[in-house]
Amino acid sequence: MFKFIVFLFIPCVFGDATLSNRTFPDGFSFGTATAAYQIEGAWNEDGKGEQLWDWYTHTYPDKIDLGYNGDVACDSYHKWQEDIQILKDLGVQHYRLSISWSRILPNGTVNNINQKGIDYYINVLKTLKENNIEPMVTLYHWDLPIILHQMGGWTNPITAEYFAEYSRIAFKYFGEYVKTWITLNEPQSTCWGGYDSGSKAPGYTLAGLGLYECAYVHVLAHAKAYHIYDNEFRAQQKGRISIVIDSPWAEAASNSSEDVEAAQTEREFVLGLYANPIYLGNWPQVVIDNVATRSELEGFAQSRLPQFTQEQIDYINGTADFFGLNTYGTNLISHLNKPNENIGVPNYGLDKGTSSSVDPSWPSDVPWVHQVPWGFRKLLKYVYEQYNHPEIIVTENGWADKTGTLTDIDRQSYITQYLSALLDAYYEDGVNVTGYTVWSLLDNFEWTNGYTQKLGLVQVDFEDANRTRTPKDSYYWFQNVIKTKCLVEECL
Ligand SMILES: *[C@@H]1O[C@H](CO)[C@@H](O)[C@H](O)[C@H]1NC(C)=O
Ligand SMILES: *[C@@H]1O[C@H](CO)[C@@H](O)[C@H](O)[C@H]1NC(C)=O
Ligand SMILES: *[C@@H]1O[C@H](CO)[C@@H](O)[C@H](O)[C@H]1NC(C)=O
Ligand SMILES: *[C@@H]1O[C@H](CO)[C@@H](O)[C@H](O)[C@H]1NC(C)=O
Ligand SMILES: *[C@@H]1O[C@H](CO)[C@@H](O)[C@H](O)[C@H]1NC(C)=O
Ligand SMILES: *[C@@H]1O[C@H](CO)[C@@H](O)[C@H](O)[C@H]1NC(C)=O
Repeated sequence: MFKFIVFLFIPCVFGDATLSNRTFPDGFSFGTATAAYQIEGAWNEDGKGEQLWDWYTHTYPDKIDLGYNGDVACDSYHKWQEDIQILKDLGVQHYRLSISWSRILPNGTVNNINQKGIDYYINVLKTLKENNIEPMVTLYHWDLPIILHQMGGWTNPITAEYFAEYSRIAFKYFGEYVKTWITLNEPQSTCWGGYDSGSKAPGYTLAGLGLYECAYVHVLAHAKAYHIYDNEFRAQQKGRISIVIDSPWAEAASNSSEDVEAAQTEREFVLGLYANPIYLGNWPQVVIDNVATRSELEGFAQSRLPQFTQEQIDYINGTADFFGLNTYGTNLISHLNKPNENIGVPNYGLDKGTSSSVDPSWPSDVPWVHQVPWGFRKLLKYVYEQYNHPEIIVTENGWADKTGTLTDIDRQSYITQYLSALLDAYYEDGVNVTGYTVWSLLDNFEWTNGYTQKLGLVQVDFEDANRTRTPKDSYYWFQNVIKTKCLVEECL
């Protein structure tokens, strides 16, 4: 196995000689991304309601590295004008940001609208437009109003109804300024981290149950918001709407038929669980089959995977105007021997029948980011072919380090290699990828990693009450890529 890995990796280690010298296509959109809770701060100001991560960080500081929280974060609630100036100087075509649900609906529900929250986002969106930066707006980036969490959160289908009502308010107030909407951010991370492994808020370990319920409620919520936009707003506002799905590339650990099949099963359980209902209709067949088989062996009265009615399948199928893709690495996938003999407690990993590892030689500074550009190219091609040739926008990609250094050569190396892989996917593989978004504009509150992992093109001094921003080397490097539309000295 080690030989195989070395063989695969060698073509990528020659540095600049392997970089694409193609020019980014006309209309290609460069951007950066942030999310409300990770940058805004002002957690209880101007009428904002409490949300899941306020509660989680305040109640369980022990679950966050060094006990940090997002009460102040980058203080972008007050420093948004400075942030927009930084974006303008960078030269991006788009900026992906999220709206805090409980800042505009403090109770999560439309009976209580907070005008100060509405005003904040109108100011931000208007100013972005005035500076020719296209806002790409995520409605939900993990900050669930606390009341909805208390009612069961993403395991209760009522959350889909309340999300739909919230989305209608957002379209109504902000639609004039927004041409690209994203309903939900990374359901895979929410459902796995929040409801199965317990590594993200709300930290539940409802093994083999919660994740599927969470996936079900997410795709329903997404579809409802899509139809509201489609039926009530699209004709007038002329925008587009989709969801952001996150996945590493799943590479078979060997060429054995078992491992090749295991890698495809992994893709269906991680990416397909969310993408299949929306782009092709219904859950992936292998997910339906594996969970049903194991549920029966375990003595459940029905499959642990909720079933869609035919009406729901039709309602959800086709509810996306493009494919929003977040990705940070690659995993090597092996098959498990006879998983159906390990019948005991319900388990998502056993439902998949796969195990996952990484090659220790892949550059990495934190466990969830690995520099594997060929995996990115394969993922782009896979998504394009598997889901009927959608337009793809890379809505997040970037490098995490622990130092936060201004001379961030590793970040430039990672992003250069990934952009080169993207050009190869576009020109060599014919993948219609039209945009790329660096996570993140600013160093920010990285969820349970607090402020210990840095992903910004711009450093933020979290020790300083002023939260002083300082562009890193990667900021100036990316500025030049955007200007020249080229990764090397001279492009074709
Ligand atoms: C697996 O197959 C690929 C494509 O045919 C080949 O390049 C690679 O060397 C094979 N790996 C192993 C370990 O046999
Ligand atoms: C919103 O929630 C707060 C806190 O639970 C409560 O005091 C208030 O009455 C609620 N307001 C509305 C309009 O539902
Ligand atoms: C989803 O929609 C497409 C296009 O209309 C259709 O071909 C496909 O059969 C639908 N999928 C399901 C499972 O109904
Ligand atoms: C790529 O997507 C854009 C936006 O949907 C579309 O206008 C264009 O025709 C697509 N190109 C190809 C080659 O499919
Ligand atoms: C706060 O930051 C702004 C913008 O970076 C700067 O102009 C100002 O001087 C800073 N104030 C203090 C007290 O450091
Ligand atoms: C671009 O790369 C191709 C393939 O490596 C090479 O043949 C060509 O000379 C390069 N062109 C420029 C302008 O560097």
